[in-house]
Amino acid sequence: MDKNLLIIADSVNHFFGRGSLRRQILFDITCRVEEGEIVIMTGPSGSGKTTLLTLMGGLRALQEGSLKINGCEMQGAGRARLRAVRKDIGYVFQAHNLLYSLTARENVEMSIALHPEFAGKKGRKRAEAMLESVGMKTRMSHYPNQLSGGQRQRVAIARALVANPRIILADEPTAALDKKAGRDVVDIMHNLAKKQGCSILMVTHDNRILNIADRIINMEDGRLCSFTQAVTDQLQALLHIRQDDELLRRISQLSTDDFLRLLDETTKTHLQFLQAVQLVDTFTSGAMLDTLIEAFTLKIGQISEAERVTLFLLDGATGELWSKVAQTEGGERLEIRIPRNAGIVGHVVETGECLNIPDAYTHPLFNREVDEKTGYRTRNILCLPIRDTGGIAIGAVQLLNRKGSQAFSGDDEREGVNFAASMGVILESWLKTAAHDGKAVSR
Ligand SMILES: Nc1ncnc2c1ncn2[C@@H]1O[C@H](COP(=O)(O)OP(=O)(O)OP(=O)(O)O)[C@@H](O)[C@H]1O
Ligand SMILES: [Mg+2]
Repeated sequence: MDKNLLIIADSVNHFFGRGSLRRQILFDITCRVEEGEIVIMTGPSGSGKTTLLTLMGGLRALQEGSLKINGCEMQGAGRARLRAVRKDIGYVFQAHNLLYSLTARENVEMSIALHPEFAGKKGRKRAEAMLESVGMKTRMSHYPNQLSGGQRQRVAIARALVANPRIILADEPTAALDKKAGRDVVDIMHNLAKKQGCSILMVTHDNRILNIADRIINMEDGRLCSFTQAVTDQLQALLHIRQDDELLRRISQLSTDDFLRLLDETTKTHLQFLQAVQLVDTFTSGAMLDTLIEAFTLKIGQISEAERVTLFLLDGATGELWSKVAQTEGGERLEIRIPRNAGIVGHVVETGECLNIPDAYTHPLFNREVDEKTGYRTRNILCLPIRDTGGIAIGAVQLLNRKGSQAFSGDDEREGVNFAASMGVILESWLKTAAHDGKAVSR
């Protein structure tokens, strides 16, 4: 098992009902939750969130697919395995499921009873410390019906966390609470979880707490859509409204309820959008993308067994092709600049056609100047165009001298075409961020 993944769901399907009433509720659910990660799941009522959560918690038998919780496969799991898995999970549900005949302290203690390492006095001390950390020090001997909703929810959190679970599954833990109490409860969970290093998967409709999430996932009609898909869909829906000239009029005519719902939706969309931007910022910041481009380019050279690989980009301002990545013998930086119509690379960029040349010196387009300058002897060449997502050639990748006696093969060409397609997307995003950062790149 990958050590850092506490939840691994692969192609999970789930059905309710029998015979003609049998209905599929979850469709092909695949997701991962890493150690220490806080994942929030949103989605409309009835979309299958609770069903998925109870499957992950070992509270419902897995029917189809694979679900590994803390390294344990739930498919075909018997009682013993389920019990072992549950020991490492803390549950916080909306109906907090406290036992009303027990005090707050006893409710929390009950949850450690499963763990022999916290037996006796030690367990009681731990339960008290946990209740104290959720702000319930003075109410430990109260029974649940002597507590407010928020206080009961805090006891439920203390109970979920007291035995150091690796995973917390929370189903709308703030639903019954007012704004302030809801925020408090989530803050407590967040802080304790970060302190204990456990993962949280939390279902919530509460937009105000989305910002504690490392990641937000969306359930729609039993299908999990990826975070970026959800953001794109929601932004598109929003843009659709924006294109409508009647936006102002339509909003002014909304009922208060509908307006508040729209406000909520919009807040959620923008929070997710901000998260996406943050993600992109992290990803494209500094030298990260540069390094990635270089590493990928060198790797394709390695896979094709080329002695050298060069990645050329078109500079729109000067009309030249310049080497963004150029592999050399000693590893020193080499910058090559050639006119955009010249030579093999120029031809490939101009025509968008791939060239596989077994003998460079006999090819009419081959230019010996670079060899003369660098002292390198080119034998054979594979050169492929790189296109952006709009299909326009923005550069080329050139592989020189396949190792051994053969020139580049059809397989090398196919690998190269795949690489060039991916590189097109990455380079386009690099060009955009570079332009954004005011780097000296033009097209
Ligand atoms: N035990 C059951 N038997 C039959 N159908 C069920 C059962 N439990 C849930 N369902 C159905 O499965 C679907 C998903 O229910 P689930 O409780 O997972 O939704 P949810 O996303 O948690 O909704 P909510 O946000 O309202 O809590 C619903 O259509 C529900 O009616
Ligand atoms: Mg539910």
